[in-house]
Amino acid sequence: MKIQAYDVKNSSEAQEVCKYVKMCSRNGAKAYVHSFGCQLNVSDGEKIKGILSALGFSFTEDYKKADLILLNTCAVRESAEDTVYGTLGNMKKYKKDNPGVIIVLCGCMASEPATIETVKNHYPFVDILFGTSALSQLPKLLLEHYEGKKLAYDMAEYKEEFGADDQIRESSFKASVPIMFGCNNFCTYCIVPYVRGRERSRSAEVIIKEVEELAAKGYKEIMLLGQNVNSYGKDLPDGITFAQLLRRLNEIEGDFWIRFMSSHPKDAGTDLLDAVLECEKVEKHLHLPVQCGSNSVLRRMNRHYTAEKYLEIVDYLRERHEGFAMSSDIMVGFPNETEEEFEDTLKLVENVKYDNIFTFIYSKRSGTKAAEMDDAVTDAEKRVRMERLLKLQREVATENYKRFIGRTVRVLVEGESKQGAGWLFGKSSEYTIVEFKGDRSLIGTFADVKITDSKNWAVSGELV
Ligand code: SAH
Ligand code: SF4
Ligand code: F3S
Repeated sequence: MKIQAYDVKNSSEAQEVCKYVKMCSRNGAKAYVHSFGCQLNVSDGEKIKGILSALGFSFTEDYKKADLILLNTCAVRESAEDTVYGTLGNMKKYKKDNPGVIIVLCGCMASEPATIETVKNHYPFVDILFGTSALSQLPKLLLEHYEGKKLAYDMAEYKEEFGADDQIRESSFKASVPIMFGCNNFCTYCIVPYVRGRERSRSAEVIIKEVEELAAKGYKEIMLLGQNVNSYGKDLPDGITFAQLLRRLNEIEGDFWIRFMSSHPKDAGTDLLDAVLECEKVEKHLHLPVQCGSNSVLRRMNRHYTAEKYLEIVDYLRERHEGFAMSSDIMVGFPNETEEEFEDTLKLVENVKYDNIFTFIYSKRSGTKAAEMDDAVTDAEKRVRMERLLKLQREVATENYKRFIGRTVRVLVEGESKQGAGWLFGKSSEYTIVEFKGDRSLIGTFADVKITDSKNWAVSGELV
């Protein structure tokens, strides 16, 4: 399926909304947009800002100065939802004192059917609600609101998307480009397929054009996004694969790096690994979430690979590129995880020698299969396991990062470091944090740094 581009500025609703926006705020309408959750949500947030800007809004970081407050939510853990409801609760008084303020709830949590009822019953001051596939409906919903509708909402799955022009990007040198939406994998713990729908790939031509434009504007890092980028193209008529897409993007002129996330180990074939190794613009780092190192738990998680298959992928990369960097998401305390099963995860972490891991204690997510499994492992035990995992990873990373000492690495400089005055930080091709002293004017450019020291989460050195 080809996803159509939707021209928000020229829709008839948008023109009507612009009139209302002007009428309702004499000093210029301001919007507060906050995205929770993963980078896909952040990217949606940038598109939403593009729509709001086309409708006449400018932006504020202070919700108490806003005429419109939009919370772009995450649903991956129930605690993420509690945070959103907490934030909404805080805004209740502001809305009471300023009844003209428009409160909008969108994103993954807003895509759950139960949310409408919760909002109606407990947060009746929310004005607009829309799901992850209904971004294009924001002008229509705003119009309904201005015309007096109490709760304007839309949870339907629309196929439209926005062109890159409509996106207000947060960085002037790092850009994310979603290449597909949704997920078909139904890992038993995960809510994403229920709130993001089935996999839909954007057409390769649209993606290539967007990356060409970003490269021409001087962007230095392009992050390709999807819940499982390896499945890219499976739903497209021309049969293009993710590996082929990477090779085509690698041909685009310009001095920039390409990263992507997330990949699924079950679909990481040698065609993809070869593309990563051979394309000089593609960074020598793979974020490949393993979740755990136990085959029996992987089966219960519905992950469709084994720890052995995962280690083969890592070996393949490291045999061909010494020091190839790996990172992962790892979950501790999946229902009924035994001590032996947990120790398999520790063994895998020791074997892979990750540079970095994102760790999560399993949290029951209603609506998923795992939420129906009973669980004999106590929370206290899960926390102890997490501590053991983190301790091991600190040791592994301390050893790992020593490999950089004495080498000169190319760094994309991202900002000022908390190290102290005059210190900057950036990331190497391996996604390693690199700290060094230098002038602020280097931010957003590539710099060569000779590494002299290492810790368990970063390396430091001197500008060459
Ligand atoms: N599509 C990506 C990850 C999306 S969610 C992938 O498959 O790798 C990001 C991470 O959140 C997951 O990798 C997982 O480790 C974690 N996660 C998802 N559901 C969770 C749950 N119910 N409890 C704890 N962690 C969870
Ligand atoms: Fe969730 Fe699994 Fe899909 Fe990742 S691949 S989004 S963990 S269902
Ligand atoms: Fe959260 Fe939705 Fe991302 S549930 S992790 S914001 S896809």
